[in-house]
Amino acid sequence: MTVHQKIISPVESKPRRLPRYTSYPTALEFNDLDPALYETWLRDLPDDQPVSLYFHIPFCEKLCWFCGCFTKISNSYEPVQRYLDVLRKEISLIGSITGRKKISHIHFGGGSPTIISAESFLDLMSLVRENFDILPEAEIAVEIDPRTCSEAKVKAYATSGVNRASIGIQDFNSHVQEAINRVQSDALIADNLRWFRQAGITNINFDLIYGMPRQTVETIGETVAKTSEFWPSRIALFGYAHVPWMKKHQQMMNKHHLPGQAERQAMFDLASTKLQEAGYVAIGLDHFALPGDSLLVARAEGRMKRNFQGYSADPATTMIGFGASAIGSFPGGYAQNSSDLKAYSEALERSEIPVGRGLKVDATDLMMREVISTLMSTFAVDPWVIADKHGINHDFGREKADLDKLVAMGYMTQEGTSYHITETGKPYLRAIATLFDQYFPQDSDIIDRCVHESEG
Ligand SMILES: C[S@@+](CC[C@H](N)C(=O)[O-])C[C@H]1O[C@@H](n2cnc3c(N)ncnc32)[C@H](O)[C@@H]1O
Ligand code: SF4
Repeated sequence: MTVHQKIISPVESKPRRLPRYTSYPTALEFNDLDPALYETWLRDLPDDQPVSLYFHIPFCEKLCWFCGCFTKISNSYEPVQRYLDVLRKEISLIGSITGRKKISHIHFGGGSPTIISAESFLDLMSLVRENFDILPEAEIAVEIDPRTCSEAKVKAYATSGVNRASIGIQDFNSHVQEAINRVQSDALIADNLRWFRQAGITNINFDLIYGMPRQTVETIGETVAKTSEFWPSRIALFGYAHVPWMKKHQQMMNKHHLPGQAERQAMFDLASTKLQEAGYVAIGLDHFALPGDSLLVARAEGRMKRNFQGYSADPATTMIGFGASAIGSFPGGYAQNSSDLKAYSEALERSEIPVGRGLKVDATDLMMREVISTLMSTFAVDPWVIADKHGINHDFGREKADLDKLVAMGYMTQEGTSYHITETGKPYLRAIATLFDQYFPQDSDIIDRCVHESEG
């Protein structure tokens, strides 16, 4: 999923959203994409390089009021089954175009993939294996809504080769859970963990959110303490993205119960400190992992990167997106399937690629993508070295003037042509990354942008 924080620009009163750079250029730049071009990207994928697959399951049983994901509420299984039938057509169609590619990573996201029955999941993964060659070391991850998961589903995941489960926790406090319309007991989480661990799926991620209604520094402290007791191997600590103009249901929550900016920052700082005291290592913008976790290994080896799932250790440079609204990333650009379920299904009924939007990228985009991904992953970058590597002559004159201002403010340090974000500058990571975004309006002062970045 892609969530954005907004900032209030000092030069205009309209809220300006600050990207999280799960892609560059961001999805805001996507336009109509010619399906024939997408087909050539698929057809031209080299056989000797691994590919990653993303499957979007846009259904949930109940709406969480904070939700920023692309999903639909369904109380019956019928629309889910119809969707799976269409998804199967897409897998066969794309597989027939790409040929049997080697797969290094598979991610099921949503919505809630746990809405799929155990039997349907097994069938779906068999079809994926018929069309693609899943490498033995591949990571296969599923986003889990603990309320719609079951022991039988977990067994089906294990049988299908799933080896990572990302559990939506959000917050353990019962008052917060009521305020966000997502009540789930600690006992349910304990059951889920037992099912996964007994099935041999020991790579467990927890998704937590800070900055939601009724949350306080104290409740966040309790949630983090409980999280540490469950001992997941990885934690994503997302800042709540309040975008009621895009997600109308967020208005169901009392906006007066939303914490202010200073409190949001205090929540993140406390959670980050407590997680690190418990033995977790901080990664990038919002991730934490236990030593030995594959993300930390990838970071140490300089392989960690930013992608639509946040941070990733996946070696593939191509991701194919399946399902309504799914985004794929290719050497030539991005392709997003239609977000309209009807249009998505009808295209596949006609055996046509259901692509809706996307963007063809150029050499400068690819170079800036690496600059931004490096900064978002390591808090440091030498843009000139990356430009040289891409064979591009870019002087970074404007960027350098702003980087020097950041150094003067103590937000960054400079060593030769390499710039590092300091502890003081870390909360401004996204604002600093906008410096290199060729599509982001550079009409505000970088220091003002940093200060205003965190406004909820
Ligand atoms: C697709 S959901 C995960 C699976 C499942 N649907 C669930 O909620 O348990 C992806 C994650 O996005 C995060 N998320 C959703 N809406 C958000 C928002 N408005 N701001 C920040 N994070 C959000 C939540 O942490 C959620 O677990
Ligand atoms: S279960 Fe997940 S995707 Fe569904 S509404 Fe809640 S947060 Fe959104």
